[in-house]
Amino acid sequence: MPIPKAELHLHIEGTLEPELAFTLAHRNGLTLPYTDVQDLRRAYSFTDLQSFLDLYYSLMDVLRTEADFTDLANAYLARAATQGVRHAEIFFDPQAHTSRGLSMDTVVNGLAAALDTSQDTHGISTTLILCFLRDRPAAEALDTLHQARPHLEHISAVGLDSAEVGNPPENFTEVFTAARDLGLHRVAHAGEEGPASYIWQALDLLGAQRIDHGIRCLDDTDLVAHLATTQIPLTVCPLSNVRLRAVPDLAQHPLPALMDAGLLVTVNSDDPSYFGGYVHDNFQALHTHLGLNGDQLRQLARNSFTASFLPPRRKAQLI
Ligand code: HPA
Ligand code: ZN
Repeated sequence: MPIPKAELHLHIEGTLEPELAFTLAHRNGLTLPYTDVQDLRRAYSFTDLQSFLDLYYSLMDVLRTEADFTDLANAYLARAATQGVRHAEIFFDPQAHTSRGLSMDTVVNGLAAALDTSQDTHGISTTLILCFLRDRPAAEALDTLHQARPHLEHISAVGLDSAEVGNPPENFTEVFTAARDLGLHRVAHAGEEGPASYIWQALDLLGAQRIDHGIRCLDDTDLVAHLATTQIPLTVCPLSNVRLRAVPDLAQHPLPALMDAGLLVTVNSDDPSYFGGYVHDNFQALHTHLGLNGDQLRQLARNSFTASFLPPRRKAQLI
């Protein structure tokens, strides 16, 4: 049985497996521009973050109804249970759906129907992290936060994702301040493709309590020292970094260097349908390609609970 762990960097839309995409397309009377599952899988070849995002946003057009979002989340949770996941803090991208005419209610009610039964069905506690799309206007992010207000019982944090380079965290200071005032936690993708300065901005201007990816921190020794002192966690996604060519191959992944520097590192799957593995597959890849031993993998699993937004007593039970 895979080691118990929390998943802290997982985009629910990135769990859309090709089989489910075809099922939902059929149910909604849509025709995908792929002949079959194999043909779609052949498109899963990326040169950078943007080349992935193009497919990610286009395929999620098959998500149309509350039931579609419920089925998507249930499929992920069933899979996560087999990977040892006991707690999941799940990203969703509401603007990717509201911009094509769906309502916030459809998205959140659909996801919540699956999340609400997850503890009993799969033994996984869950919460949602609402991500703002950084390649869309800051005013739209503010409007999205406003639309989410009736749903805050299901949402514990806000995040920032999508195309990083050229869309710095500083553009989203106002909406992150508003989220903090609503009692929400804050996380942000930074230092995946973008520079270390974006990690500083996420910390200093957005009040980020975790950095998603963050691997480019290694370009800035002062930043590495700061992350080590504060124990601000990084949610690292090794298979994603290789598929999106942020690192050349797993054997050269900087995760061991991040651990050696004393950072609070966690391992996560990001968009597992697209990147060739769920969270335990990422753990196994670290063992196979980087030689991480059992103690190191157990430390990474403990870190995932430490870095979560669970209350201290629940963390202590899980660690
Ligand atoms: N980076 C930025 N945005 C994203 C990602 C990612 O890895 N996955 C889904 N949206
Ligand atoms: Zn991500």
